[in-house]
Amino acid sequence: MLKFTAKALLCALSIGLAGLAQAAEPIVIKFSHVVADSTPKGQGALLFKKLVDERLKGKVEVQVYSNSSLYGDGKEMEALLLGDVQMIAPSLAKFGQYTKKLQIFDLPFLFKDIKAVDRFQHSPAGKGLLKTMENNNITGLAYWHNGMKQLSANKPLREPRDARGLKFRVQASDVLEEQFKAVRANPRKMSFAEVYQGLQTGVVNGAENPWSNIYSQKFNEVQKYITESNHGVLDYMVITNTKFWNGLPPDIRSQLESILEEVTTKVNEHAWALNQEAKQKVIDAKTSEIIELTPAQRADWVKAMKPVWSKFEAQIGPDLIKAALAANEAQ
Ligand code: LMR
Repeated sequence: MLKFTAKALLCALSIGLAGLAQAAEPIVIKFSHVVADSTPKGQGALLFKKLVDERLKGKVEVQVYSNSSLYGDGKEMEALLLGDVQMIAPSLAKFGQYTKKLQIFDLPFLFKDIKAVDRFQHSPAGKGLLKTMENNNITGLAYWHNGMKQLSANKPLREPRDARGLKFRVQASDVLEEQFKAVRANPRKMSFAEVYQGLQTGVVNGAENPWSNIYSQKFNEVQKYITESNHGVLDYMVITNTKFWNGLPPDIRSQLESILEEVTTKVNEHAWALNQEAKQKVIDAKTSEIIELTPAQRADWVKAMKPVWSKFEAQIGPDLIKAALAANEAQ
């Protein structure tokens, strides 16, 4: 009898301990992305982890997987929806399957600079876009900047006709496909992790990227010419799985939101400088000739690519385009 009671007691104790251990398990947030740690997005993910480690120790654990080490693009969205990762920050060009509205960010020569992009993202129209995919279980938490894109190729691109017949790698965006078709080039959708090899082996001859991606992926080593075109933006939406996010204890969720707000401010303040540093490193590496467009040459690129807008106006909505243009004017 005594033996039985002791055994029962031990058993109850171990169940209790297991329960306690379970209650103390931190919530794990896997944050997967495709770029290097040194880029704006890479730095943002690491800062988010650092602040969560400091402020929510034992309650939330953030694991960062950079450089497509866990999922490449294409797969990361699927993983988010399946609950295999909890946060990702795809480029705004990669949401075409879920909403056509975000195509606005791909329209060539729409935003005059990254400050205009920032103003639009902070406007009611821009903020509204964060919530457009909740029916698909995707909640937008923040916009993070990378920067304006530059054209690169294995030949100098000064005039739109220089791009004719070249194969350009594009992100998974119909707008970006049309942008290159507009200059009679051949676009090819390709995941980010494949770009270096694609350029090296000649599967593609050119690409478009902000300086931070060009330098950190060594694209300059396989592109002899980079044209400082600033023809479009490459920014991100930090997103989470809506059910996961809404299921978090409210106090944890609001602490995560305020940490993310702090991180967003930092990322967006530093993105421009990180891109300038990367540009300087490309210049110092002497791998590529950097081409500056004359105002007349730039005007020719605008003239060639801008007709793309009208092809997507109905899908995006003319009012949204108006709101983006208004951001160019604001001080
Ligand atoms: C690309 O595919 O070129 C970019 O979206 C990669 C990134 O996340 O910056």
